Amino acid sequence: MRNSKVTIQSNQRIAAGMYEMVLQIPKTAEDERTLQQVRAGQFINIRIEGLYLRRPISICDWDAEEGTITIVYQTVGHGTEIMSQIQSGEQLDILWPLGNGYDLTKGNPCGKETEVTPLLFGGGAGVPPMVGLCRRLMQTGAKPVVILGFRSAENLYYKDLFEEMGVRTIITTEDGSMGIKGFVTDAASALLSDADSVEYKWNIFACGPEPMLRAIDQTLPEDIPGQLSFEERMGCGFGACMGCSCETKYGSKRICKDGPVLERSEVIW
Ligand SMILES: Cc1cc2nc3c(=O)[nH]c(=O)nc-3n(C[C@H](O)[C@H](O)[C@H](O)COP(=O)(O)OP(=O)(O)OC[C@H]3O[C@@H](n4cnc5c(N)ncnc54)[C@H](O)[C@@H]3O)c2cc1C
Ligand code: FES
Repeated sequence: MRNSKVTIQSNQRIAAGMYEMVLQIPKTAEDERTLQQVRAGQFINIRIEGLYLRRPISICDWDAEEGTITIVYQTVGHGTEIMSQIQSGEQLDILWPLGNGYDLTKGNPCGKETEVTPLLFGGGAGVPPMVGLCRRLMQTGAKPVVILGFRSAENLYYKDLFEEMGVRTIITTEDGSMGIKGFVTDAASALLSDADSVEYKWNIFACGPEPMLRAIDQTLPEDIPGQLSFEERMGCGFGACMGCSCETKYGSKRICKDGPVLERSEVIW
């Protein structure tokens, strides 16, 4: 874990209540080395002036050559409101990279007898980590399918980004104002029963609100393996306070350090 002062390169609204912030890391050998070690699904913990607790935000994407990290956040309270006012050129104090991240090897047995298709689910503020994950899975030769869920068309973002990456991108909105009307699980059920894909061997990667993760677990066949990222409330963010403990089938785990990504098979709902 590293503590760095990063410079805001840009901070812009990309959908209703949703902002994308690009952070420039310091040009030190240690920071550059740390950036190269980032894994999809990890997060940063941001210190916000005047607030006691840091705010955890997932790493959406990163560029080791440019020395940048992109995050996307929803304004839900005081901390994220303050973040939305931050101007380019200002600095932020971050702890990074935190958490375990996704295990990509499980989505990429390419070249083996049975190819696995990674099935990525992002819901609302859980879409961002799917960007970095999708890019890295594709670099390994995998061909992910992405299902993104939003409340309404005004909340939609990054559809174009995924399409530009060349992946099949399925959109759902709860009110039907864009894409399939309903939840990501409605799109997944249709996809899995589709004649073209019934022979596929899937592997789930998901991030979003807990009801979405639970619905994915309850809807998709049990034999599909999966990794689910939980965006719980937390304290220290690096395993010291036990404020984010949860019970799993393999014992008690801290979401911030042993997670936020848990195996589908270990989650107790
Ligand atoms: C590992 C991890 C990764 C995360 N990644 C992202 C991300 O990429 N983008 C993003 O927008 N958010 C993400 N979150 C959630 C984000 O940390 C919270 O939304 C943020 O801390 C809220 O701060 P605030 O001061 O604005 O809100 P507060 O004033 O603290 O709270 C305002 C309201 O938001 C609710 N709230 C606060 N934290 C959470 C939470 N974790 N989950 C659900 N509701 C919450 C509160 O219950 C309250 O109703 C992540 C959380 C974790 C633990
Ligand atoms: S937030 Fe402190 S141990 Fe997880």
